[in-house]
Amino acid sequence: MDISAIAALAPVIPVLTIERAADAVPLARALLKGGLPVLEVTLRTATAMAALEAIAKEVPEAVVGAGTVLEAAQVEQIQRLGAKFAVSPGCTPALVTATRAAGLPFLPGVQTVSEAMVLAEQGYRVLKFFPADAAGGVAWLKAVGAPLAGLRFCPTGGIGADTTQAYLSLANVACVGGSWVAPRAAVDARDWSQIERLAAAASIYKRS
Ligand code: 3PG
Repeated sequence: MDISAIAALAPVIPVLTIERAADAVPLARALLKGGLPVLEVTLRTATAMAALEAIAKEVPEAVVGAGTVLEAAQVEQIQRLGAKFAVSPGCTPALVTATRAAGLPFLPGVQTVSEAMVLAEQGYRVLKFFPADAAGGVAWLKAVGAPLAGLRFCPTGGIGADTTQAYLSLANVACVGGSWVAPRAAVDARDWSQIERLAAAASIYKRS
């Protein structure tokens, strides 16, 4: 599966920053049960790699990837642990080289038209728009729709239940990413049924 096919699986990709490795599997199961099969585990905690591996092994129906991938050296490791894709808040030539060498689908981040053009030159058609809300949100995506007609975006950063539909109604939005479907307080309380309900609500957004 390439990034376009992965993005087509669900309107929302939960962005998960997992502090306790034991939360990984029940969290992934709750999100999957709610209807969100694509999961991004950010590499920002000491347990991130273990969480990624646990989800890949124990919840094989999920399509789990690694987020906050900043260094080429992480690519081989996440792939070995079972990641199906990599996400970065930005992009570097080294990350392009490493993900291509590994054959790992990659969602690189952009914040400007020029960054998007550089990645389009290299063959990328689906890009993360980050930090979406702070960088112009729906208005930015609308404005680039015509000039960057061949590109689609996965906006992430500052998106919530209240703004998701506005993003997903745009023709150049493939899906959105966000942490609101797995709030820290609910994870800390191991309230998996609340997370399943949030995922169910997020899974029925309509895309254009
Ligand atoms: C992130 O990398 O933190 C994601 O963009 C999630 O952002 P959010 O917490 O604002 O949804």
